[in-house]
Amino acid sequence: MRILVVGTGGREHALALKLSQEGNEVYAAPGNPGIAEFATLRDVDIMSGPEIASLAGELGVDLVIVGPEAPLVAGVADAVRDAGIAVFGPSQAAAQLEGSKAFSKDVMSAAGVPTAGSRVATTPEEAAAALDEFGAPYVVKDDALAAGKGVVVTRDRDEALAHAAACERVVIEEFLDGPEVSLFAICDGSRAYALQPAQDFKRIFDGGKGGNTGGMGAYSPLPWAQPDLAEVVLETVVRPTLAEMEKRGAPFVGCLYVGLSLTAKGPKVIEFNCRFGDPDSQPVLALLESSLGDLLFAAATGALDTVEEPVFSDGASVTVVLASAGYPESSSKGDVITGVGNANSINDVDVIHAGTAIVDASTPEEPDHRHLVTAGGRVLAVRAKGYDIDDARSRAYAAADLISFDGLQRRSDIAAEPLGVVEGASLL
Ligand code: AMP
Ligand code: GLY
Repeated sequence: MRILVVGTGGREHALALKLSQEGNEVYAAPGNPGIAEFATLRDVDIMSGPEIASLAGELGVDLVIVGPEAPLVAGVADAVRDAGIAVFGPSQAAAQLEGSKAFSKDVMSAAGVPTAGSRVATTPEEAAAALDEFGAPYVVKDDALAAGKGVVVTRDRDEALAHAAACERVVIEEFLDGPEVSLFAICDGSRAYALQPAQDFKRIFDGGKGGNTGGMGAYSPLPWAQPDLAEVVLETVVRPTLAEMEKRGAPFVGCLYVGLSLTAKGPKVIEFNCRFGDPDSQPVLALLESSLGDLLFAAATGALDTVEEPVFSDGASVTVVLASAGYPESSSKGDVITGVGNANSINDVDVIHAGTAIVDASTPEEPDHRHLVTAGGRVLAVRAKGYDIDDARSRAYAAADLISFDGLQRRSDIAAEPLGVVEGASLL
């Protein structure tokens, strides 16, 4: 197949890499320097549906995959679908499952999906009442898209109130106590297959300390989780949600990212996202043995029943994110990166690009001299496969040790122990 992947980050790199390894002809728009090594890049405004639809038409692709949430929430998938091209990614209406926390809570409630109790608040009085109803630890979420950074979890009531006051509309929730898990469901509007669960380490520092990030590392599978977790989540969460979305005239086609807390009362939904997780989908994709292209094309064309359930290899995969100075509050651009080639050449290791750029430092004496530099908060992710988690983890860190740039930040405890133990504990 000829496939266009829209986006610039690690998720798009991991998707494009797997698709290319399967023998597909891959284009990425705008892509990144890592993707450029095996695919053709085209420049595009990822927020413009007409631009992406016309690029897809010009390239004659069989399938468009929209990676990030912002273009999905802006309706980019609708424009591609309206042009008669198969697209993996929800419509603007269905992307509201991520675009509005209040909408997703409403769908969950109508569908009977297990999740934290919640209240929507638009005034300080409403916020205070909801905080007191649920008690500490307090969970306050900005209703708008905030790239994983709009959520405050705290025991400090004043901090919770201040966050509510800083947002136009918040969702205040009951605190869910249990390890967090990411489960990706590939949906065709009415049917779904689950991929193997993963765990994402969201805080910037070791031991679950510091601010929330987009994710500092991840691993899969989860040997400590109940073996039928994916089936339970399909039954209690994904299928009822798909049915409810169809009923609302907004069938969900794409990756429904189910962020779960495994509580004493069973798995409960923390959040829905309308796309693959980053970096949490990276280890999952590394272990996917069956065809990703066929799976996503079948979902995009409403024909998931024509492909087999996804198959995963034995063993495990671990991804460690390398972030730039200042992340997550800010980021540092232009720091020269070394060692990527060496790390990438190790067997079963992939260096995934997330925020990199190439600068031309050629001089008459030294033509064709180009540097890879940092260009964002999360810069690279080093992903390894191994025969078990410990093996994958030590391979990922050995490869990551070869890479350096000024101000590099990384956690040293990715996949060292289940995250619920480490990160949940820091809040209590
Ligand atoms: P979200 O953007 O909804 O994923 O929230 C970001 C992070 O805040 C999650 O990954 C959790 O670690 C934490 N969080 C969100 N909601 C809750 C909740 N109801 N109970 C406990 N932790 C939560
Ligand atoms: N890693 C969390 C996310 O993709 O939202």
